[in-house]
Amino acid sequence: MQSGAADALAVVHEHILVCTDCPLHLKRIQAVPGTGPATARIMAVGEGPGETEDRVGRPFVGAAGNVLTKLLESIGLRRDDIYITNVVKCRPPGNRDPELTEMEACSHFLDAQIEIIRPDVILILGRHALARLLPGAGGIGGLHGRKVVRGNRLYVPLYHPAAALYQGSLMRTLEDDMLKVRGYLNEAEARRRQPGGAAAPSHPAAARAPGEPAPLPTAPTQAEPLLRLVPPGPGEPVLRPGSPDPSEPAPPPEPPDRDQLSLF
Ligand code: URA
Repeated sequence: MQSGAADALAVVHEHILVCTDCPLHLKRIQAVPGTGPATARIMAVGEGPGETEDRVGRPFVGAAGNVLTKLLESIGLRRDDIYITNVVKCRPPGNRDPELTEMEACSHFLDAQIEIIRPDVILILGRHALARLLPGAGGIGGLHGRKVVRGNRLYVPLYHPAAALYQGSLMRTLEDDMLKVRGYLNEAEARRRQPGGAAAPSHPAAARAPGEPAPLPTAPTQAEPLLRLVPPGPGEPVLRPGSPDPSEPAPPPEPPDRDQLSLF
């Protein structure tokens, strides 16, 4: 029997599969709602399906997906334990960037997925997902690998895995950032184990299965600012939303064509 959250997520998926809210539905083979368990503690959000994803119906199954899978495995995570989705659920023709109106039309689906899953950490893959999930926070060059809290959610922006296929040096940056993600997850786990450290789910659809640990206690208070960067650890540079990271080169352009990536 499915939990309430799994049922709710399945309903969202059904709506996505038949959605005609924006012109992207006209050229898709199929919509790509997302994959992974409703109980996932980690969610990864990319830009939009590419050619392979459009054909297969699952996110991140092309070359960028291989990179993502390896990155997750590098810190001991199994891809199947992560909920993976995209900002837009249908492939932009020719793998062009999704347009604002398309992202807006699709946005309630992503909101619903996040609300149902209520992950401890949301990995933001690339600048389009960053702009959608943390508007006004700053660029990927300054924020990658950093913990960002907005509302009651914890986000970690990362370069898009496909970017590492175009610029090899970024793979090292992604690997380093994933090690930081491992640290953030360990912190979340430790917090959850503290007496009184677990918070009860507030969304009825998100009720977790018996025995499931409660989610990260990040409920906002009235006084909490909308966006705050978690203070850096010893030796880490202080970054503020919107400020460029002086230690980083200018962010590379996002890959122009995911079709090509899917050929690898
Ligand atoms: N595949 C996806 O599902 N999303 C991306 O952003 C890139 C490739």
